[in-house]
Amino acid sequence: MEMTAAVLTMSDKGYEGLRQDTSGSAICQMLEAAGYRIVHQEILPDDFDAIASALKACADERKVCLVVTTGGTGFAPRDVTPEATASVLERFTPGIPEAMRAESMRITPRGMLSRETAGIRGQTLIVNCPGSEKAVRECLGAVLPALGHGIEILRGVAGECGSHGKGGHGHG
Ligand code: MTE
Repeated sequence: MEMTAAVLTMSDKGYEGLRQDTSGSAICQMLEAAGYRIVHQEILPDDFDAIASALKACADERKVCLVVTTGGTGFAPRDVTPEATASVLERFTPGIPEAMRAESMRITPRGMLSRETAGIRGQTLIVNCPGSEKAVRECLGAVLPALGHGIEILRGVAGECGSHGKGGHGHG
């Protein structure tokens, strides 16, 4: 099965062209290396409605397998990515942010400050990551090996319990 992905960067400064989107580029690199085809990439302001609409378009119209977001997961007043994401999810996948924060806490106590969430809308898996390129590499790196197997189950192309055990090759 071809794995398609969309990458959304939430950043007021990035949206205004005042900051380069190295985190979104890092996600694209990591996903492509894992065998995903990036079909959409976008920079959005930290705006609840804009984020919710963009996520719905990726799931309902583009029907991508995976959406990875970066930014807007912290405590700043305009950090609303997790709330906007939760508003469009049909089912939560708490193990994914749990794994990210567990890995992050091995690296920095500030890992607990990211409020990232993840879940399913239709046949699309949506995963939040924090905003910095470093945090993206650490967080997405921790979960990416398992995501492909979840997506295959979601799309009905894999049994619920594969024989790969820990996964970690191909799409995971
Ligand atoms: N997670 C990892 N793995 N590495 C990091 O450097 N930074 C933290 C946290 N999670 C960090 C991390 C910090 S300092 C913050 S404020 C939060 O992510 C929220 O980031 P965001 O507001 O850019 O989304």
